[in-house]
Amino acid sequence: MANAYGLVASPAQAVRGKNHACTSIYRSTVISTRVHCSSNVEGAETLGAGVAASESRVPRLLSKGCKLVGCGSAVPSLKVSNDDLAKLVDTNDEWISVRTGIRNRRVLSGTDSLTALAAQAAKNALEMAKVDPDDVDLVLLCTSTPEDLFGSAPQIPRALGCTKNPLAFDITAACSGFILGLVTGSSYIRAMGFKNVLVIGADSLSRYVDWTDRGTCILFGDAAGAVLLQACDSDDDGLFGFDVHSDGDGQRHLNATMKQKEMEHVAGSNGSALGFPPNRSAYSCIQMSGNEVFRFAVRAVPQSIEYALQNAGLSASSIDWLLLHQANKRILDAVATRLEVPSERVISNLANYGNTSAASIPLALDEAVRSRKVQPGHTIATAGFGAGLTWGSAVVRWG
Ligand code: UT7
Repeated sequence: MANAYGLVASPAQAVRGKNHACTSIYRSTVISTRVHCSSNVEGAETLGAGVAASESRVPRLLSKGCKLVGCGSAVPSLKVSNDDLAKLVDTNDEWISVRTGIRNRRVLSGTDSLTALAAQAAKNALEMAKVDPDDVDLVLLCTSTPEDLFGSAPQIPRALGCTKNPLAFDITAACSGFILGLVTGSSYIRAMGFKNVLVIGADSLSRYVDWTDRGTCILFGDAAGAVLLQACDSDDDGLFGFDVHSDGDGQRHLNATMKQKEMEHVAGSNGSALGFPPNRSAYSCIQMSGNEVFRFAVRAVPQSIEYALQNAGLSASSIDWLLLHQANKRILDAVATRLEVPSERVISNLANYGNTSAASIPLALDEAVRSRKVQPGHTIATAGFGAGLTWGSAVVRWG
């Protein structure tokens, strides 16, 4: 089991003390180093086949801080209520709302595109931050449901009208994707000198739900949310601490694995051999042992948040908001109780959207910021958990 704690010191840590031992090693060995990193060929105007050249990443100083300066979200227009689901499977509004807290969810329909939703969320985040799309130098699309097997992230800068082709790639980590994207984005800023990183969480699990399985189809919805992470002086650092994990042993509790479509192979005839050519593959629907995932979440998430808080030199009583992956209200309540965070400091919007996987944290953050619940300077403890199994936490300052 991986167990990586956030090791980069924030100024807040220096003030608050309790730094992880590795923090000082990091600072003493790396602070004055320069790195050379290039995501593209330098000096060529076009790369052939109509591919435009991008600016080379010039060497920049390390050990900057990063802060969250903009957020945005987008949801499909089709709303599906618990009563709608009761027409598909043997369930009812009371069972779903009591056991999960969910009342409605949004679902992609017709020609709706997840990539377009992700781009809209990113656009809203850039507008809030007043940052031009051409000033973005990295786009991380956290999704387990891309619309291209090879990743959808490079389509986001296109949709935003970027002319400089920033580096863009997907991160696949299910419902923990946004937290891992945040940590990855901060590393690109702190260790490689990137300046404006779009971290987008977007998922359309509705495309992989078995709509005849009442144990899963009631939970999930589709959405996109984005945050703009920006380089700043280390004194202004807004990522105070983090903690990330994965455990492949738990995959059996939640997965949507590859299944092969049966094709006939005649060994030896027409140049084919046994098992070759390979069968065409597709993903199966989501399989979940709800009870097991529930137990995992209420055990692992509070512990992870405690590690991240410890790393930040903070206690649960000093955070302004607890913002968990929106999976089940009972999980949110159990984690808040364990951390002794009062319910009025727990951000929750899952009644309206259900579990939107990697989108749930930035979607809830965006609503809370736009409704002025979350104010600049507020400290948020946030955590994601889900398939993989993966889980992780980050303690951040908004603005
Ligand atoms: O992003 C992370 C992803 N996943 C999660 O976070 C999921 C975590 N787990 C959960 O949220 C909950 O386990 C569920 C909401 C999935 C299920 O709730 P539960 O309280 O654990 O219910 P259960 O599976 O133990 O089922 C209790 C009863 C069963 O009936 P019997 O055997 O007691 O007669 C189920 O057959 O409820 C029945 N049931 C339903 N009844 C009406 C299960 N699903 C439904 C349903 N409507 N949709």
